[in-house]
Amino acid sequence: MPATSVIGLQWGDEAKGKVVDLLTEKHDIVIRYQGGNNAGHTVKFGGRTYKLSLLPTGILQSHVKSVIAPGVVVNPLALLKELDGLIAGGQDCSGRLMISDRAHVICPWHLLEEAAFEKLRGGEAIGTTMRGIGTCYREKAGRFHAIRIGDLVEREVFAAKVRSIVPVKQKLLDALDPEGPRLDADQIIAEYSAAADRIRPMVADTTSWLLDELEQGRRLLFEGAQGSLLDIDHGTFPYVTSSNSSGCGIHNGSGIPERAIQRMIGVAKAYTTRVGGGPFPTELLNETGEQIRKAGNEYGTVTGRPRRCGWLDTVATRYSARISGVDSIAIALLDVLSGHDELFICEAYEINGQRTRNMPSRASDFAAAKPVLRRIDGWKEDISGITRFEDLPKAAQMYVHAVSELVGRPVDLVSVGPDRSQTILIGAF
Ligand code: IMP
Repeated sequence: MPATSVIGLQWGDEAKGKVVDLLTEKHDIVIRYQGGNNAGHTVKFGGRTYKLSLLPTGILQSHVKSVIAPGVVVNPLALLKELDGLIAGGQDCSGRLMISDRAHVICPWHLLEEAAFEKLRGGEAIGTTMRGIGTCYREKAGRFHAIRIGDLVEREVFAAKVRSIVPVKQKLLDALDPEGPRLDADQIIAEYSAAADRIRPMVADTTSWLLDELEQGRRLLFEGAQGSLLDIDHGTFPYVTSSNSSGCGIHNGSGIPERAIQRMIGVAKAYTTRVGGGPFPTELLNETGEQIRKAGNEYGTVTGRPRRCGWLDTVATRYSARISGVDSIAIALLDVLSGHDELFICEAYEINGQRTRNMPSRASDFAAAKPVLRRIDGWKEDISGITRFEDLPKAAQMYVHAVSELVGRPVDLVSVGPDRSQTILIGAF
């Protein structure tokens, strides 16, 4: 059963989109299975640049079907805005998009609640993307006030749900902030029902459809959003997102059996970035961190926030690769590290005097982790035009070898720039 998946091995923004884009040619269906419009990917197509968030990267390729599976949380207004952005660029992709009727709907109260709760957390705020992702997933787990896409497209069902939920949510919002915003049930029903009318033709039981397609030998490509270290169960809790953003989310988010996945590719940047709060052992709060931020244009696609930058952390990436059963690694943005005299890779942590190569489970231990760094010679050359591994400067080759050794997986691909052509393939990809 020929399914491939691409997941991030860090805290998101690993340039998974480029790897997915390269693989899309060899696949028939691209599937998003978790997260929502908190993700961000930039896709270049037909001379234009599109910023996508909820839509799968594959959406612009006319030979593939794109699927938003049950595990995704969908803001219908954001979805249509993205689709309209594509239409404005001459790409009406709605005909090849399928949205699961099991996926949950992000409603206006989710965004308001999230803002109120983040404010309440004060200095311990998670630094979320404020898209209502966590509050929607909380609703799903709570079941009582959850709305699924299947409900949204049934006018009466949706209206009845909104009318029963809004008074309760208003009480909650008032308790959190008496001066806070008012919810208007009629307005929400009108706005969301208009969106539902446009979305209805795309809604389907994607689970049965995907299982049928799989049985017929269709090639599936699973596109992970965020990164493994933001996984709700396995990430750096509580500074995580609310879904299973490691490879562990593929099965529960899509309904496709885990054993259907033949190949699991983990994408890691040549360094590390993080957006939002939480410990970051290899963070560089100095000129070098600033240089990396500038060279890598490390600003959030969704929120525009500057990303925190640091050395590559192979304790974290190795952990991510192991929990998801990653077969091989793609190293992204190696070109960003050009120009340094020396580089460092974290190979272990020292936590309260103990050396370890395992990820601590407790936030306090992780906050206490001091990186044990391996020094590697830097290189000065611009490598962004290199397409063969053996043409890379020796120091860059050594860097890639060190990553492979420390993460414990072969490296299949090295990306040295945003364009498809700026890719070094190692072996068969
Ligand atoms: P949420 O997903 O909006 O709840 O945010 C939770 C945490 O995940 C915050 O630290 C966000 O910055 C981070 N996050 C969510 N989506 C992404 C992403 O696509 N890339 C990087 N960080 C993300």
